[in-house]
Amino acid sequence: MSSSGVRTAVIPAAGLGTRFLPVTKAVPKEMLPIVDRPCIEYIVAEAVQAGIERIILVSARGKEAMADHFSPNPALEAHLEATGKSAELAEVRRIASMAEIVVVLQQEAKGLGHAVHTAKDHVGDAPFAVLLGDDIMDSDPPAISQLLAAHDGDGAVVGLLEVPLEDTQRYGICAGDFDDAGRMQVQRMVEKPRPEDAPSRFGIVGRYVLPPDIFEILSQTQPGRGGEIQLTDALATLASQGRVTGVPLHGTRLDTGNVLGLLRATLHYARKRPELRPRIDALLAEFMQDNTR
Ligand code: G1P
Repeated sequence: MSSSGVRTAVIPAAGLGTRFLPVTKAVPKEMLPIVDRPCIEYIVAEAVQAGIERIILVSARGKEAMADHFSPNPALEAHLEATGKSAELAEVRRIASMAEIVVVLQQEAKGLGHAVHTAKDHVGDAPFAVLLGDDIMDSDPPAISQLLAAHDGDGAVVGLLEVPLEDTQRYGICAGDFDDAGRMQVQRMVEKPRPEDAPSRFGIVGRYVLPPDIFEILSQTQPGRGGEIQLTDALATLASQGRVTGVPLHGTRLDTGNVLGLLRATLHYARKRPELRPRIDALLAEFMQDNTR
């Protein structure tokens, strides 16, 4: 269990991945690789590193590959055993036992708030973490641990990043006063405001710690931006009660929600591997020198 006592995380992963079509016609967006691991594994690994033991994966029809990745595969394991591939065997077994994974299906794409609400019966009456798959955070301590360290009682905590003014329309934006510890006591939250309407430049990156009464609030939250039930709108209710803390996150954020971001994440993690780094750099230099390629 995490030091704050939070043991469950919800990972909303039911989206259609339209920004990555056509690959996402048959492959879940969360299964696209960063080097040789699917995106979702980086998210699950972060949660596990923070002490989370149970993951509620909010999935959709046709995205079974995500759960398969975290389940035992006896035929593959027998093959690796028979062919003496012990390192690979240990790795596939490790991934299958990282955490208890519970899959719930979101039947309709009605927004992030709705996706989180879908996990209600599996979360129970305890605070829980939410990690969004498009935001990979490479940081020490893990981003969700930075939030858990600020979590207290029945409040909510959100991860923040200062974003360029022209990008406020891509984020839930928070405004409030900072305390001596550098945390924002959030007073206002607006989902994806235009720059001229943004109350600040602090955007929510995809990490949250939420109290269980968020489910009740979500069930009463009307469709907002884009006609969807927005988690930010439900959190705004908690903010008006003085129950939301914003934590500016340390670390490298890798937005894998678009093609260029996924490529950047791939280069980032490939260059962290000592055996790949010099070869990647040589390859990049080769491309830079030859503009015809
Ligand atoms: C969601 C949230 C938004 C948040 C963002 C972080 O938006 O609704 O408040 O800032 O994730 O990535 P989405 O990117 O799913 O449109």
